[in-house]
Amino acid sequence: MTYYVYVEPDAERRNTIGGLYSDFGFDIVADLADLEAHLPRNPETLLVMIGATVDLDAALTFTAYQRVQRPLIGVLLLRRTLEPDVLARAMRSGVREVVEELDVEGIRNSAARSIDLSKALSTTMRAASDQGQRAKIVTVFAGKGGCGKSVVATNLAAALSADGSRRVLLVDLALQFGDVAIMLQLPPNRSVSDAISMAGKLDEAGLRSVLTPYRPGLDALLAPASPAEGEHVSRELVTEILEVARGMYDFIVLDTPPAVTDQVLSALDLSDWFVPIVTPDLPTLKSVRLTIEMFDLLEYPRDRRLVVFNRSNTEVGLTTDDVEEAVGAHLSVHMPSSRDVPLSVNRGVPMVLSDPTHPVSLAVRKLADRCAGVTSSQESRRKIFAFGRRR
Ligand SMILES: Nc1ncnc2c1ncn2[C@@H]1O[C@H](COP(=O)(O)OP(=O)(O)OP(=O)(O)O)[C@@H](O)[C@H]1O
Ligand SMILES: [Mg+2]
Repeated sequence: MTYYVYVEPDAERRNTIGGLYSDFGFDIVADLADLEAHLPRNPETLLVMIGATVDLDAALTFTAYQRVQRPLIGVLLLRRTLEPDVLARAMRSGVREVVEELDVEGIRNSAARSIDLSKALSTTMRAASDQGQRAKIVTVFAGKGGCGKSVVATNLAAALSADGSRRVLLVDLALQFGDVAIMLQLPPNRSVSDAISMAGKLDEAGLRSVLTPYRPGLDALLAPASPAEGEHVSRELVTEILEVARGMYDFIVLDTPPAVTDQVLSALDLSDWFVPIVTPDLPTLKSVRLTIEMFDLLEYPRDRRLVVFNRSNTEVGLTTDDVEEAVGAHLSVHMPSSRDVPLSVNRGVPMVLSDPTHPVSLAVRKLADRCAGVTSSQESRRKIFAFGRRR
C-alpha cells in the first residue's frame, strides 16, 4: 500500500527527488488536478508532499480544502528555501510541516510524524463514530421556487461526503416535484413513499431498503415518482426517518419544496443548521425575511443560520448591505451566477465533483466547512496540535 503521493510539475525534480525517496514507495503526479483525480482512487493515501515548484497559493488553497474534506491526509510542503512568511501562511492553511526540498532527513522525519498523526487521528475518528455519534441535520430552504435550493443541497451533500470519508444522506423533501433524482441521475425506483408502510416501526434495515446509493459515502432518499404519493408522507414519518438516519450518518442534508410545509417544519425542528437561499430579487428577499422572522418566533438559534446568497454577482442595483438589510441576517456564503450550473444540472453531476475549483464549487465547499464546524484555520490547527501532545 502506498500511503504517500508526491506532486511535482518539474520532470527533472520528479526524477531526482522521487529517486531520493524511492524506498518510501510513493506515487508521483504532475499537478494538483492530477492529485484531485488520484486521491479518490487511492483511499489509503495518508500523506501528500507538495513539490517546490507547485505555485504556493494553489498549494495552500488545496491544503485548506483538503484539511476539511479529507482530514486524515497530512500535507507536507517542500520549498527551495524556508521563508518565515511562507511558513506562517502554510501553517494557517493547515500544512503539517514545511521542509526544504533537499533536506532528505528532514523530509523523512516530517513524513513519519505526519503518518503517525494520521493513523492516530483515524483511530479516534473511528472510535467517535462507533460511539453512536449523531448526524448533523442541515436543511436547505427558501420561501420561493427556483432560488437554487436543489443545486445547493445536492452539491453540499457531495462536498460533505468528502470522497466517502464522511457518510451523508441527502433527503428530497420536495415531495411533490423533487429534483434530486434528476440532478444526480438516479433511477426513481425507490423513494420515501416505500417507507409509508413502515411508519411507527421504521428501523435501520427498513430505512436502508428505501435508499438509493449514489457514490461511496453518499446515499439519497428520493421523493416519490408521482406527486400524489407525497401527500401520504406524514410529519411524524419525516421525524422518524430522521431519527433513524441520525444513527447511520455523519450528515443529513435536506432539500425542500418552495414552501414551508408540515414535513419541512418537522425537519427544521430537528435541524442543526438552517440554510436559507436568497437571490437578489425583491420577492425572494421578502419571503426569506418572513421565513427568518418565523425562525425567531420558533426560537431556532441565530448562530445556526447560514444564509447562502445565490447569484450574488448579478447586477440588479442591490448591494450586499441592501440584501442583508432586506433579509435581516448576515450572508454567510456568496455563490456567483454561472452558465456552468445549468450545464452541470443537465449533465446530472454536481459541480463540486466535476469541477471542484469552480467559484460555485468553492462557495459550496465553504458552506460545507461551516456545517462541519471548521470555523477558522487556527482553531483546527490548535486541535491537531493539542491532539499531538496528548499522544
Ligand atoms: N448560481 C447559479 N448560476 C446559474 N444558474 C443557477 C444558479 N443556481 C441555480 N441555477 C439554476 O436555476 C434553476 C433553479 O435551481 P434549483 O432547481 O436548484 O432551484 P430550487 O430552489 O430547487 O427550485 P424549486 O423551488 O423549483 O425546487 C436551475 O436551472 C439551476 O440550474
Ligand atoms: Mg428544488
